[in-house]
Amino acid sequence: MSQKPELQRYPTDFSGRKILVTGASSGIGRATCVSLASLGAQLTLVGRDHSRLQETISQLVGCNHRVEVFDLLHTSAICSWMKNLAAELGPWDGLVHSAGILVTRPLRYLDCDTFDETMQINVAAAVQLAKGFRQRGVRAERASVVFLSSMMGLVGQAGLVAYSASKGALIALTKSLALEHAGDGIRFNCIAPGLVETEMAQRLQKALPPGSYETLLQAHPLGVGKPEDIAHAITFLLSDAARWITGTTLVVDGGYTAQ
Ligand SMILES: NC(=O)c1ccc[n+]([C@@H]2O[C@H](COP(=O)([O-])OP(=O)(O)OC[C@H]3O[C@@H](n4cnc5c(N)ncnc54)[C@H](OP(=O)(O)O)[C@@H]3O)[C@@H](O)[C@H]2O)c1
Repeated sequence: MSQKPELQRYPTDFSGRKILVTGASSGIGRATCVSLASLGAQLTLVGRDHSRLQETISQLVGCNHRVEVFDLLHTSAICSWMKNLAAELGPWDGLVHSAGILVTRPLRYLDCDTFDETMQINVAAAVQLAKGFRQRGVRAERASVVFLSSMMGLVGQAGLVAYSASKGALIALTKSLALEHAGDGIRFNCIAPGLVETEMAQRLQKALPPGSYETLLQAHPLGVGKPEDIAHAITFLLSDAARWITGTTLVVDGGYTAQ
């Protein structure tokens, strides 16, 4: 008689797992904290504004969360900051880099400082966070990292040269980090969201020429996304359900890039 395969529950339990989330004070980062905390995770919330981070904390289940005010423009300090924090809090099981900036500017008006700052927050901070995370004592034996790329890292958009360059770089970075650390038990993945209703999207709407934002909206067959649509995908990539996934970019864009 053939034996039935053992049925396993879908692994969504984050009880006791520690996750560091950058960009936790707003939009996708905040929704990610809400999703992870509802599954039992203990969070380290990173942003520059204490009161906005406290606002996120007030929406979370559980009380073992920690707020850390840190400006990711201090790129060279990231590794030691993480080491010191982990010595106090214990190792993290996961890291989400949701902090990011988007500046809308046609190439002829794109100055070096704007380009550099975009690359610093979106890419250089991601590199240093990964470097800090891989250190002994900073992360658990099996751990998962998720970066926030964008559909603009896969397809172009006029006026977003610096932003799309930075988001494309994250996709390539993820692949190399995944290969370099597969043997160390760290998975690296990326999410490429379409347009999501956050403060960033509001700023984009104000910066684009009249009509362009509406055209962008209409190019999403499933309509504009909610922060929780991305948070759920991030939660999946952090969970054991994704234990065989590394080096990939999960497109969550309401169908934008299917066309
Ligand atoms: N919304 C979209 O349509 C969309 C689409 C595709 C990809 N994404 C990506 O998804 C991620 C989250 O976007 P969002 O829409 O949630 O953006 P958001 O609402 O504008 O939030 C951005 C976050 O980044 C943090 N941040 C910015 N500069 C920082 C710095 N120097 N140091 C530390 N933290 C800093 C902000 O914290 P403070 O409180 O310190 O300002 C804030 O928490 C970004 O990487 C974005 O590029 C968004």
